Amino acid sequence: MKGKTIFRILVAVLVFSMILAACAQKPVATEAPVVATEAPAATEAPAATEAPALTTSSGYVVPAAACAPNCQYSDMVVGFIQTGPEGAWRTANNASFDEAAAQLGITLKVYDSQGKVENQISAFHTFNQDPTVNVIILAAVDTKGFDDVLKEAAENGKIVILEDRSLDSSASLYYTRIGSDFVLEGQKGGQEMCKLLEGFEKKNVVEISGAVGASAGIDRGTGFRQTMEECGITITASQTGDWKVAPSKAVMEAWLKDPVLKDIQGVHAHNIEEALGAIQAIKEANLVPGEDIMVVAYDTTKDTFTALIAGELGAAIECNPLLGPQVYEVALKGLNGDTSIPSYIASQEGTFTAAQGPEALQAILDTWKY
Ligand code: AHR
Repeated sequence: MKGKTIFRILVAVLVFSMILAACAQKPVATEAPVVATEAPAATEAPAATEAPALTTSSGYVVPAAACAPNCQYSDMVVGFIQTGPEGAWRTANNASFDEAAAQLGITLKVYDSQGKVENQISAFHTFNQDPTVNVIILAAVDTKGFDDVLKEAAENGKIVILEDRSLDSSASLYYTRIGSDFVLEGQKGGQEMCKLLEGFEKKNVVEISGAVGASAGIDRGTGFRQTMEECGITITASQTGDWKVAPSKAVMEAWLKDPVLKDIQGVHAHNIEEALGAIQAIKEANLVPGEDIMVVAYDTTKDTFTALIAGELGAAIECNPLLGPQVYEVALKGLNGDTSIPSYIASQEGTFTAAQGPEALQAILDTWKY
């Protein structure tokens, strides 16, 4: 019996120990269990903010060129939309862009518009679609009709610069314009005509205007009318000579044959070719240019100085065609994102007169570039 009692006690102790051991293995939740919460919603990563648009003071958004901010002239591919042949000034203007592009290593694609605005619009669209072109330069034959292609250029990342001529379009649609202040030129022309007609009893002036629609002619006419009033000039007739000698000669011949209009003391010609046509007609009518009829014109080509030296042209207002280097320099700034460029950069220009005398004028002509 005693042995059975001891066995029973040992079994009980073993079972109790086993129970204690099992209890000891269960963790005792001493703290509230951590409930697996959802991962915090990822807050929207800030959108990669696009770089702020580079905008000039006129509101023009400068396109981001692939080579910026280290573009070189060799990166520049220019689509140049030129007016087409108009005379010696335009020839010099073309040469300036051709020579500067060759010197600087610029790829230049020139389109000759043959004087038609519809050709310019079409060429502009073509350059906008040309993936190699990053700069478009326009010498506009008209002031109107370019808004859509200017906006298309912006959509296609092309920088647009107006050379020479202005547009009616908003300055927010192009990087800048580099060229003459044609209104100021016209004001100078009126002042010079007043000087030439000093002492004349009558001051009837006929005007041979530039090609229809061109800003150069429109603004020169505006400026001339602003200053001619200072000395009592009257414009008795105005007709386009289309920038050319022959049409201008024909217009002047008709006026000189007109019983009323032939009473002419001055000719306001919007460029040198028109003045030369008028001078031919004056001489063929047995009148003396520079004595009977005074002539004022714009452009200072070599032919201009020859006419001034001969005394047949009374005054010439300079209109600088040598814009290539300056336009390319500004275009490169645009490719590199420079927003400090103003919407208009005026050419620096002077005035030349027959009164300077043949010797002084010949000395200028001897070194004149175009
Ligand atoms: O825009 C400049 C004008 O255009 C020049 O005075 C003229 O000769 C040219 O055709």
